[in-house]
Amino acid sequence: MRKSNFFILIISLLVSCNETNRPGFEMNSDNPTKSSLIEDKVNTLLAQMTLEEKIGQMNQYNGFWDVTGPAPKDGNASKKYEHLRKGYVGSMLNVRGVKDVMAVQKIAVEETRLGIPLIIGFDVIHGYKTLSPIPLAESASWDLEAIKKSSEMAAKEAAAAGINWTFAPMVDISRDARWGRVMEGAGEDPFLGCRIAEARVTGFQGNDLSSYNTIAACAKHFAGYGFAEGGRDYNTVDIGTSTLNNIIFPPFKAATDAGVRTFMNSFNELNGIPATGNAYLQRDILKEQWKFDGFIVSDWGSMLEMIAHGHAKDLKQAAELSVIAGSDMDMESYGYVEELANLVREGKVDKILIDDAAKRILRVKYELGLFDDPYKYCNVEREKEVTGSKEIHEASLDMAKKSIVLLKNENNILPLKKEGQKIALIGALASDKTSPLGSWRIGADDNTAVSVLEGMQHYKGNSLTYSKGADVSIGKTEFAFEVKINSSDKSDFGKAISAASNADVVVMVLGEHGFQSGEGRSRTELGLPGVQQELLEAIFKVNKNIVLVLNNGRPLTINWADENIPAIVEAWQLGTQSGNAIAQVLYGDYNPSGKLPMTFPRHVGQVPIYYNYKNTGRPVLPDEDIVFWSHYIDESNSPLYVFGHGLSYTSFKYANLKVNTLDGEVNVTVDLTNTGKVKGKEVVQLYIHDLYASVTRPVKELKGFQLIELDPNETKSIEFKLTHKELGFFSNNGDFVVEPGDFKVFVGGSSKTVLEKEFELK
Ligand code: NOJ
Repeated sequence: MRKSNFFILIISLLVSCNETNRPGFEMNSDNPTKSSLIEDKVNTLLAQMTLEEKIGQMNQYNGFWDVTGPAPKDGNASKKYEHLRKGYVGSMLNVRGVKDVMAVQKIAVEETRLGIPLIIGFDVIHGYKTLSPIPLAESASWDLEAIKKSSEMAAKEAAAAGINWTFAPMVDISRDARWGRVMEGAGEDPFLGCRIAEARVTGFQGNDLSSYNTIAACAKHFAGYGFAEGGRDYNTVDIGTSTLNNIIFPPFKAATDAGVRTFMNSFNELNGIPATGNAYLQRDILKEQWKFDGFIVSDWGSMLEMIAHGHAKDLKQAAELSVIAGSDMDMESYGYVEELANLVREGKVDKILIDDAAKRILRVKYELGLFDDPYKYCNVEREKEVTGSKEIHEASLDMAKKSIVLLKNENNILPLKKEGQKIALIGALASDKTSPLGSWRIGADDNTAVSVLEGMQHYKGNSLTYSKGADVSIGKTEFAFEVKINSSDKSDFGKAISAASNADVVVMVLGEHGFQSGEGRSRTELGLPGVQQELLEAIFKVNKNIVLVLNNGRPLTINWADENIPAIVEAWQLGTQSGNAIAQVLYGDYNPSGKLPMTFPRHVGQVPIYYNYKNTGRPVLPDEDIVFWSHYIDESNSPLYVFGHGLSYTSFKYANLKVNTLDGEVNVTVDLTNTGKVKGKEVVQLYIHDLYASVTRPVKELKGFQLIELDPNETKSIEFKLTHKELGFFSNNGDFVVEPGDFKVFVGGSSKTVLEKEFELK
C-alpha cells in the first residue's frame, strides 16, 4: 500500500554554498570534544604563526631517512629535512619505534621557531607488532566488545612505539569481493558497519585522547572507495544518491558521532570530482552537516593524482581545489607546502581557509597532549614492556577465536577427536608463519604468527603428519612490497596424497596468501589460487574425510568444496595467534560463533552480490525457469553462503516471534533455545523490510543483533526495540524520513531468516 501522507523527520539539511565562503570551515561550537581551554591555546598559537608555518601544519611527509643512521632513502630526503627544521611539516607517517620518533620529534620541538610537535601517523590497521585478525575477520565475530578491545590493544602497542595517530578504521562498505581491500573493512552491511566503526573508534581513542595508551583514529576513505567499478582498486566510482546516503555514508556518520578525530579522503572520484577536491563531501556533508571539527588528511598523493584524473591541470591548481574543498592535510603530494603560500598571495585562496585547516590540526595535537609533553609516547621502558605483552597476545587469541566462522559441518566431523586419530595436515598455508598476519602489517616481523601446524602440535593425543602439497603463491618484489603470484608447481602432490591415504582425517589449510588481498590486490577470479583446487580434488579421491580450513582476505567461490567436503572452517587471516585459535576450534576447546559479514558468491559473475538488494520490477521466483526475469541463464541468483551465515557445534531453535507496535516504536521478542549438547553462542539477527516507500527499500535490512550464550536446553527471550532510527531512511534530498505503512520483520541466525511477521507503522 502506498502511503498517502507521511511525516518527515529532518535531522539535517544539505547546505549549498559557494567557493571560499562555503560554510564548513568555521569551528563547530557545540561539539563536546572541544574544550574552550584548547581553543584559547590554539588561537594564541595561531596568532604567532606565519603563513608558511600554518601551511607547514598542513603538510605530511613519509619517513624520509633512517633517522638513526645517515643514509637518506629517497630523492626528496634533504628537502624534507630542511622543511622539518623550518617548521614546514606538521605530521610524518611511517616513522615508528621510540628511538626514531624521538629523533624527528626533537627536530620539530627543539629546532623549529615555535617548537610545534609533529603528529606521528601509521597504518595500525589490525595491530602494530602483535597482530589481531584482519578487520573483515574481526567483523565476523559480531562481538563489539571484543572488537573494541582489539583496537584498544592495537592503540596501546602502537602508542608505546611512539605513534599517536592511526589511519583506521576503514569504514568503506563494499559489495565486491574482487576488491582486495574488503579485508580491511567491516563487510557489506551499513548497520553492522556503523556498530563496528563505533567500536573501533572508541577502542583506539578511549575516553581520554591525551592518555599515553590511546591514539587518534581516522575514518577512511571518504567516500565511496569500496564501490570501485569492477572491483579494481582506485577505479572510478559511480553511485546513486540513495546508495550514497543509505549505504556509504552511515558508517562515516557513526564514526563522527563516536568522536573520531580525523578523516581521510579517498583516491576515487565521485560524480566526476576526485574526493580530495570534493567540497560536497568534505565541506557540505562532513564539516557543515555533521559538524566534524577534527581534520581531514588526503590519501597518499591523491592531491597530485587530481591531474591524472583530469580535474586539475597542475599541482598548483590541485592544491587550490583541495584546500577550497576542505582537505586539511596533504599526504605526500607536496602541493600545500609548495603552492599554497603563493595561492594566498595571489588572492586565489582565502587565508581564512588556511587558518581553519591549521586550527583543526593543532586542536587534535592539543587533545593528544602533545603540547604538554611532545615525548609522552616516547618511553623506551614502556615500549619494551608493552610490545608483545601477554595481555596483547591474549586479546589477539581471544579475537582470533571469535572471528572464525564454521561454514559447514556434515555428520559432526568437527570437533576432532583428541585421541587415537591419524591426522594428515596438508597445505603450504598450514605451516606458514607470515601469511596469517595478513595484509597491512608494516610493523610486524615476518614469521611471527603461530602456524596451524604449531597450534595442532599442542594436541598430543593424535599422530600428526604434515605435507605441503603445493605452494599457494610465489613472491616478487615491487616498490619494496612483496606481490604474490600464483604457484603452478604440483611436484609435492604425491607426498600429500600418500599422507592422506593413510590418515583417519585430513585437515587441509588452503586459500589466499596474506598478500593476495589488501591495497592494489584486486582479483578477477575468486577461486582457490594456483593449483590448490586440483590438490583438494586429488586428496578427496583418496580420503573423503576432509576438514577444509580456509585462509583468505575476501569471500571465495568454493562451490566444489561446499558440495563435496564435509567440514569447512572460515579462518581468514587471524594474526599472530592464528594457529592456536584454529587448533582450539578444530578440537572443540572453543565453540565457533562467527557469522559472515559478506556474502559468498557461487560465481564471480554474480558480483556485486549482497543480501540487502532491491526487489526490481521482475524479482525472480525460486525454482521457476522463466526467461524475462531478473536472473542469469547459467547460474542461480542465490549466493553460496548468505550474509550472516555461520554454524556452531551446538544447534539453536527460534520460536514465538512477537511484534508489538506502540507510539511509533516497535517491540520484537523471540525465544531462542540451545537444542544441542554443548554450550554455545548465537548471533540473533533482526531484519526489516519496508514494503512500499517513496524510495524503494531493500528486501531485507539488518536493524539489530545480539550475541547470546546459552547452555544446552536453555531458552532465553530476546527483545529488540525498533525506533524511528531503525525504521526510517535517507531520502534523495538527504533528509531522514520515517514513512508509515506496512513492514515485515524477520529474525534468525542469518539473513536467510526463519521467522517473520508483518506490522503496520502508523
Ligand atoms: C594509501 C591507503 O589508501 C591509505 O588507506 C593508507 O592509510 C595510506 N596509503 C598511508 O599508508
